[in-house]
Amino acid sequence: MKEHLIIFDTTLRDGEQSPGASMNAEEKMRIAKVLEKMRVDVIEAGFPAASPGDFEAVKAIATAIQDSTVCALARANAHDVDRAGEAVREARSGRIHTFIATSPIHMREKLRMEPDEVLEQAVRSVRHAREYCDDVEFSPEDAGRSDMDFLCRIVEAVIDAGASTVNLPDTVGYTLPSQFAGMIEGLMHRIPNADKAVFSVHCHNDLGLAVANSLAAVLAGARQVECTINGLGERAGNASLEEIVMAVRTRQDVFDCDSRIDATQIVPASRLVSTVTGFPVQPNKAIVGANAFAHEAGIHQDGVIKHRETYEIMRAEDVGWHANRMVLGKHSGRNAFGTRLRELGIEFKTEEELNSAFSRFKDLADKKHEIFDEDLQALVADADTQHANEKLRLVSLKVCSQTGEVPHAEVTVSMDGVERHGASEGSGPVDAAFRAIEAIVGSNGELQLYSVNNITSGTDAQGEVTVRIAQDGSIVNGHGADTDIVIASAKAYINALNKLVSRTTREHPQLAGLI
Ligand code: KIV
Ligand code: ZN
Repeated sequence: MKEHLIIFDTTLRDGEQSPGASMNAEEKMRIAKVLEKMRVDVIEAGFPAASPGDFEAVKAIATAIQDSTVCALARANAHDVDRAGEAVREARSGRIHTFIATSPIHMREKLRMEPDEVLEQAVRSVRHAREYCDDVEFSPEDAGRSDMDFLCRIVEAVIDAGASTVNLPDTVGYTLPSQFAGMIEGLMHRIPNADKAVFSVHCHNDLGLAVANSLAAVLAGARQVECTINGLGERAGNASLEEIVMAVRTRQDVFDCDSRIDATQIVPASRLVSTVTGFPVQPNKAIVGANAFAHEAGIHQDGVIKHRETYEIMRAEDVGWHANRMVLGKHSGRNAFGTRLRELGIEFKTEEELNSAFSRFKDLADKKHEIFDEDLQALVADADTQHANEKLRLVSLKVCSQTGEVPHAEVTVSMDGVERHGASEGSGPVDAAFRAIEAIVGSNGELQLYSVNNITSGTDAQGEVTVRIAQDGSIVNGHGADTDIVIASAKAYINALNKLVSRTTREHPQLAGLI
C-alpha cells in the first residue's frame, strides 16, 4: 500500500505574489474550483491580513470549497492569525499556515530579532492558531539557509505547541537536491516528536531546482509538497504542480507514495491560470507546454506510431490534452451549452447569467462555426471583465487602417454611466485605440506587456489579449477576447484600467516582516 502524498497548491497565494499575476476574487474562485476538481488536498487561498479584498476572497473560497482543505497564510503575529482564523472559520476543512523567518540573515537584517525571540513568537502563534482550528501548519521561512540546530529546536517546539504540518521552505531557491534531502532526513531523524507532524517542502526555482529539490525531499520522507500550477510564483517561481504530480506518478517504481490528483484536470487548470494571469506557458514546458507531447523528428514519429512507449513516458490524454474537446456550434441549444460549461467547472449563480452567457455564445457562433472548450472559457472570462457595473466600459470602437495611411481610432467609453468620446492616431490600429482610450481616461499608466494569443486555430479564432499596466507602484493585468483582435485589445486595456481604479493596498507577506 503506497503512502499518501499531500499536494498543497499555493497558486492563489505564492503564485499570486509574482508581479503582475494579481487576480480578482472571481478569478481566484474559478481557479479554486478547478483545483478542487483536480483533487488538490490543500488550497492555500491567500493571505487574509494583506487587505480586506484578500480576506473576503479567502473567506468566499473557504465557504464554497468542499473537497479540499482551504488554508490561509498568516505571519507569526496575533493580528495575522486572527484574520486567517476568521477567514477559514466557515470552511468544511480549514487550515492556518503561520510562518516566521529562521535564517541568520533574515532574523538579523529583516526581523531584527534574536533566535530565542523568534522561537517564542513561533510557538505563541501556533498556540493562538490552534484556538481557531486543529489543522495548523508552521513554516520556518528560509529554512534552506537556516542553522540545522536552530531548525531542530524550533520545529520540535512548534510541534509541541500543536502544529500538525511542518513546512520547510527553500525561500530563495538556494539549496541543491542532495543537501535539501539531507536537511529533511536530518530533521525527521533528530527531532524526537517528528512522528507527530507531516513534513512538507516548499521550493522556489531560482536555480531551476524547485522540482528536483521537492522530489529529493519526498524520497527523503516529506509527505506534503507545496507547489503551483505552471510553476507560477515570485521571481523564477515555485515548484510546478504538474511536474511533481506526474514525476511521482510516472516513477512509481521509485516513489513509495502517490497523490490523489485527477491528472486529467492539469491542462485545463494550466490554461486557466495562464489566461487569468497573462503569463504564457512556454511551448517546451514539461507536461503543459504545447510541444510537450509533439513529435517533430521523423525517427521519433515513426517510433511512436510503431509503439507509443518508444518515445512517450506519459499519455497526453492522461494529463488532459485533447480530453473532452467537444465542439459546440450555432445549432447547439442552451442545454448543451450549460452542460458543457458545468463540465468545465463553470457555474452561474443565476438563470439570468446563464441566459446572458448563452446569448454571447450565439453571437460568437455566428462569427465562428466551431466553438471549442477554450472558446467557452474565454467567453466566460471575457464576460467577467466586461461587467456593466464597472467604472469604465467600452461602448464602441472604430479603427481605420490602410496601407499608406496613419491608423486612426475613435472610441466611446462609458465612465460611471456617462459616455465620452476620444480619437487618436497611432503607429498601428492597437496603438491608435489605446491612445484614444487614454485621451478619455488619462491614466498615464505604463504599458508593460501586450500579448495576443489565438485561443484556437484558424483565422476565425478568437484573439485573447493580455495587457499589463503599471501605475504608482501597482501592476495590473487586463484581459479581453474577441474574434476582432483590436476590439479584444481595447477590452483588455479597459479591463486593466478598471482594476487600477479599484485597487486596494495590500501587504506582501514576506517583505512586510512582522507588524
Ligand atoms: O517561500 C516562502 O518561504 C514562503 C513561506 C511563506 C512559506 O512562501
Ligand atoms: Zn514561497
